[in-house]
Amino acid sequence: MGSPWESRRGRRGQTGRPQTPFLFLLPLFCPALSAQVRYAIPEELARGSLVGNLAKDLGLSLRDLPTRNLRVSTEKKFFTLSPENGDLFVSHRIDREQICGKKPTCVLEFEMVAEKPLNFFHISVEIQDVNDNPPIFSQNTTELEISELALPGATFALESAQDSDVGVNSLQQYSLSPDPHFSLTQKENPDGSRYPELVVKEPLDREEQCYHQLTLIAVDGGEPSRSSTTQIRVVVADANDNPPVFPQDVYRVSVQESLPAGSSLLTVTATDPDEGINAQVTYAFINIDKAARQVFKLESKTGELTLGGGLDFEERESYTLGVEAKDGGHHATRCKIQIDVLDENDNAPEITLASESKHIQEDAKLGTVVALIRMHDLDSGVNGEILCQLKGNFPFKIVQDTKNTYKLVTDGILDREQTAEYNVTIVATDKGNPALSTIMSVTLHIKDVNDNAPDFHQASYVVHVTENNPPGTSITQVSASDPDLGPNGQVSYSIVASDLDPRALSSYVSVGAHSGVVFAQRAFDHEQLRAFQLTLQARDQGLPALSANVSLRVLVGDRNDNAPRVLYPTLEPDGSALFDMVPRSAQPGYLVTKVVAVDADSGHNAWLSYHVLQTSEPGLFGVGFRTGEVRTARALGDRDATRQRLLIAVRDGGQPPLSATATLHLVFADSLQEALPDLKDRPEPSDPQAELQFYLVLALTLVSVLFLLAVTLAVALHLHRSSSPTAWGCFQPGLSSKSGPVIAHNYSEGTLPYSYNLCAASHSSKTEFKFLNINLENAPPQDLLCDEASWVENSSNDNPQITSNPVNVQQVSVFQIPAFYK
Ligand SMILES: *[C@@H]1O[C@H](CO)[C@@H](O)[C@H](O)[C@H]1NC(C)=O
Ligand SMILES: *[C@@H]1O[C@H](CO)[C@@H](O)[C@H](O)[C@H]1NC(C)=O
Ligand SMILES: *[C@@H]1O[C@H](CO)[C@@H](O)[C@H](O)[C@H]1NC(C)=O
Repeated sequence: MGSPWESRRGRRGQTGRPQTPFLFLLPLFCPALSAQVRYAIPEELARGSLVGNLAKDLGLSLRDLPTRNLRVSTEKKFFTLSPENGDLFVSHRIDREQICGKKPTCVLEFEMVAEKPLNFFHISVEIQDVNDNPPIFSQNTTELEISELALPGATFALESAQDSDVGVNSLQQYSLSPDPHFSLTQKENPDGSRYPELVVKEPLDREEQCYHQLTLIAVDGGEPSRSSTTQIRVVVADANDNPPVFPQDVYRVSVQESLPAGSSLLTVTATDPDEGINAQVTYAFINIDKAARQVFKLESKTGELTLGGGLDFEERESYTLGVEAKDGGHHATRCKIQIDVLDENDNAPEITLASESKHIQEDAKLGTVVALIRMHDLDSGVNGEILCQLKGNFPFKIVQDTKNTYKLVTDGILDREQTAEYNVTIVATDKGNPALSTIMSVTLHIKDVNDNAPDFHQASYVVHVTENNPPGTSITQVSASDPDLGPNGQVSYSIVASDLDPRALSSYVSVGAHSGVVFAQRAFDHEQLRAFQLTLQARDQGLPALSANVSLRVLVGDRNDNAPRVLYPTLEPDGSALFDMVPRSAQPGYLVTKVVAVDADSGHNAWLSYHVLQTSEPGLFGVGFRTGEVRTARALGDRDATRQRLLIAVRDGGQPPLSATATLHLVFADSLQEALPDLKDRPEPSDPQAELQFYLVLALTLVSVLFLLAVTLAVALHLHRSSSPTAWGCFQPGLSSKSGPVIAHNYSEGTLPYSYNLCAASHSSKTEFKFLNINLENAPPQDLLCDEASWVENSSNDNPQITSNPVNVQQVSVFQIPAFYK
């Protein structure tokens, strides 16, 4: 290494310091004493550097030197002496700090020994300090922790540096790299050494700058000065000086009400710039109601808000939650979470039948309100708008009344008999997506109205009853149905009209009011009443009642209960008979007479046949099987008696047949005179009693005839007034032959288009006169037919008259012979 001395010299002018004499001789101090020489040299002189000429300073002559053998006596030899000239040289490195440490003055003392004479010379060499050591810090870097809360002016001692040099070369001052927050002061220890102190100049903020890098410089006072640095890392220690902070005061979130429980809604995060526990933020609800507490859950560590329970827009539309964030210290901040629940279409419409009259009259007019329907949907907006419809085809429709009410009104014709009840399905659909709907079924009952009249099962009834029925027999049953309900459909039957005498009606027929069974109240007689007509009414019990009429025709059928009755010839009560006169010259086939018989029955029962039962001269006469005409079968022979007797049987066609007989007395004569003796010849008892009887009868007959005439006149007058020309026909058998264009058919041969109606008086068997009532108009020939339809038709006209049998009388000469003739 280079000599500090030399180098110092070289820089003298630059520093401008006053030069201190390093080398000085001290022989002056003790010239008389044993020599004590004192030198002063800077340390670290290069080896061989001259300290001083010791010989000279000791007063030794150069010549003596070799003899004196001057030498350094000390064991540690920093110096050597040149034997030639007595110069003292540095022979070893001299480090003042090593030799003297921190002593302010460092003197090396040693003895020089001289011989001849032996003598000691005391030499002291003062080693002067040279600034050869810089201040040294024990550590290159130092870490210092200062709380951010440190107030300005607070001081923190720093480690001091060590400088081995002394005096002015020792450490003189510290300085700090420029920093806005810190400055440096120097303090003195009691021993006078200095140490640096860091002073907080400005408040610290860890959150702003968590450490500061400073450089501490230690400078000594040497010339040139030496320095060293150490790094000081000031770590700003955290203090809980910051509250947590939410980025926003209010959080808003919209949530679908259907969100499932457990869903995360949002996370609130409060930031705390502090460190460690001071920055550990926990979250909690504050100031929220109990309901909200059940619905929402706040994760205390993360600040995550989750859904706990079910949201229901219809229950609550929004929540405001207070959240407090707290750090590890005592700082807390609050924020609010505004939760808006969004409506979803989660509610189906509700249907309420606000008022109902479940029974509807079937005659209800179109538009009659049947029910009021109220719709309600808890949802809002379109989710709550409802469309109301009827499902299916019904005679009803839905009419909107107000926003949420509807009317169910009739929209068609109701008919209870067709449909007694309707299950109307009401469908309410909201307009949400997807739409929700509610279905409601209403049973509507249709109430009966008497709108149906009873209906007979037949348009008309015809019933055949055979005569002589037992009274009280049910002859038929009519029935009518009425589809209405209850009394409206309860049918009762009655007879409302008939062609019978109203007063006598009840004695003929009756009808069971409930059963509709028609009873014959008496035994019918075909001969009296062939048919009659009733109008039956079926009537329901409605209000007003409805009814229907039906006609019932009762046809009384014939039984063969009447035997034929011979009208001609009749036997007089006294036993006398009428005679029929036959000319002697009568040719075979000559119509002698005709047996006239009637049968009150009709049809086959009245279809008569004639038979010869007995004859005095067989073969002489024959009788028409159907006509009853008695004709000669051959010419009269000489041996034949002039008086003949014929017994004719009249039989009807009934089963079994009934019959009657007639006896004919025939006289063959050419004139009445001729016949009379024959008659007189008759072996008849001439009885005076009988003559008396005859007059009596004659008188009676006259009275009867007068009476009959009067009655007939009255009847005729009456008939005349009703302008019936036929009435007179009763006594005019021959005059009306021209009328009656229709020829009677299928009756026996020779029948004329006449019908004989026997007048009632003819029944009297005691009269001598037979009244033949020829009634052409009222008894047309059809009347005689067995054809049922025709007699049914006609019998209604002239009931209960008896129609007679046809009798051909044209060629019959009828003589009424008084009994006294016989
Ligand atoms: C200090 O720094 C110097 C130079 O970089 C290095 O040589 C020395 O070893 C360091 N001392 C310590 C204690 O780290
Ligand atoms: C209506 O509904 C009721 C009850 O469900 C049922 O008994 C009845 O038969 C239904 N009527 C019609 C006409 O469908
Ligand atoms: C039924 O007949 C009665 C009597 O003839 C009559 O008064 C009534 O109007 C009729 N009713 C009907 C429905 O024809």
